[in-house]
Amino acid sequence: MKLSVPKELLPTEKRVAISPDNIHALQKLGYQVSVQSGAGEQANFTDINFEKAGANLVDDPSTLLGDADLVLKINPPTTEEVSLFKEGATLISFAYPARNEELLKSLGAQKINWLAMDCVPRISRAQSMDALSSMANVAGYRAVVEASHVFGRFFTGQITAAGKVPPAKVLVIGAGVAGLAAIGAARNMGAIVRAFDTRPAVKDEVKSLGGEFLMLDFEEEGAGSGGYAKIMSKEFIDAEMKLFAEQAEEVDIIITTAMIPGKKSPVLITEEMVKSMKHGSVIVDLAAEGGGNCELTEPGESKVVHGVTILGYSDLPSRLSTQSSRLYGNNLVKLVNLLGDTEEFTINQEDEIIRGALVLDRGEISWPPPKVEVSVQLQKPKEQKVVQPIVEKKSIFSPAVMLGGLCVLLLALGWKGENEFLDQLTVFVLSCFVGYMVVWNVTPSLHTPLMSVTNAISGIIVIGGMLFVSGSNPWIAGLAIFLATINVAGGFLVTHRMLKMFRKE
Ligand code: NAI
Repeated sequence: MKLSVPKELLPTEKRVAISPDNIHALQKLGYQVSVQSGAGEQANFTDINFEKAGANLVDDPSTLLGDADLVLKINPPTTEEVSLFKEGATLISFAYPARNEELLKSLGAQKINWLAMDCVPRISRAQSMDALSSMANVAGYRAVVEASHVFGRFFTGQITAAGKVPPAKVLVIGAGVAGLAAIGAARNMGAIVRAFDTRPAVKDEVKSLGGEFLMLDFEEEGAGSGGYAKIMSKEFIDAEMKLFAEQAEEVDIIITTAMIPGKKSPVLITEEMVKSMKHGSVIVDLAAEGGGNCELTEPGESKVVHGVTILGYSDLPSRLSTQSSRLYGNNLVKLVNLLGDTEEFTINQEDEIIRGALVLDRGEISWPPPKVEVSVQLQKPKEQKVVQPIVEKKSIFSPAVMLGGLCVLLLALGWKGENEFLDQLTVFVLSCFVGYMVVWNVTPSLHTPLMSVTNAISGIIVIGGMLFVSGSNPWIAGLAIFLATINVAGGFLVTHRMLKMFRKE
């Protein structure tokens, strides 16, 4: 099968869909990879880089697209590109189906299968394919770089012979993917960073990046469905805007990332607030394309109002094109992997990731997809209980019966059991209880390090091995000690590396 990567046609687009590093993985799946000459130039990948990695270079877009069974792109195709596609080909790119109805129809006429990178569901298994997140991560970082470029002072505080410099104060509104990246980048540059989000669940993540999480004296849970936030009540928005009005007088830079997918971005920074900011302050409005979080933002533009520079750039990932292309390319390869190798290429709609991303199925519009289970971290437990019209089924294994059975079993064991066995049973029951209580109280963001530390603790087997090493099977005990030692050392190493990611050096 032939796989093609054309040059992006948007004038502001500097990214390319894959980097030379991705070619080998695609070839391993059986694809003949062709890249349009000059496609990676603006992302600093030369034609020679692609050629050396094993891609064919093609000059003419009509040959490139006309031959391709699978096309990898970033932006939705232009009308010109659509006419070049081979009938029945598969396209993977951003699609934004809600606002691209005409495009869906014209691709549909050519029986194209279209997988939308922006529709990959936000579930744990799809994290490696989540291009919205990887691009938001780049955008958050770049927002800080852009802000520092126009801000007239250091981010970090300094005491020099020429005078004392206070650190810059940065407020980040919305601590999702982009917000967290911005917090990390601004902290690394030495600024004091404050953040606010409607979902208090992100408080620990903000703190672990060295930011201060601002609290609001208002009870309303912000976690909605699909791994995203929900629209907040007017009262809540008013309360948070009061907080932002106080902060605006104090901080030097505001980075806004608040959004609810499919909805207009909430206006959180008013002209009054902008007026109250110090001259030379900066606002970077990442939500510009969705209407903007600041009422003075102009999408795609930079402007100065009341002495404050307001940046509404909507091409932040493209402004860091090498990094973005590498990450996007990796996301694409993971998704292509899901389609199987070229011999068994299938668009398997049983797979919830593929079903979620599929907006055109052999030309038929298959968007929106059925609802998918959401990211556990952002779920609201109370809501899960509400929508469950489960038909009551009386099982003989009801909790009461099972508890009764357990009591009888324990009584029988206590009656007849030997002392040593009962001691071990008590320790076992207590350790289950302690383990349950400890694990239950760990915040979801720390579950992965918890797992690795549990793995390390499981190395207790070493002690068992040591006790038995002088017994009748010293080799088996020795082997157990050896294997468990690898487990212990590896577990602690992984834990250490993961916790380092959360710690501010
Ligand atoms: P996300 O969904 O991960 O994060 C958005 C955060 O905003 C969530 O944590 C949510 O709880 C919070 N939020 C929603 N309403 C809020 C409110 N009223 N007050 C405070 N917080 C609120 O989204 P992600 O991926 O971080 O993207 C953020 C924004 O950046 C989006 O608007 C996205 O379109 C934009 N973006 C912009 C780019 C650019 O070049 N300008 C590039 C990539 C993303």
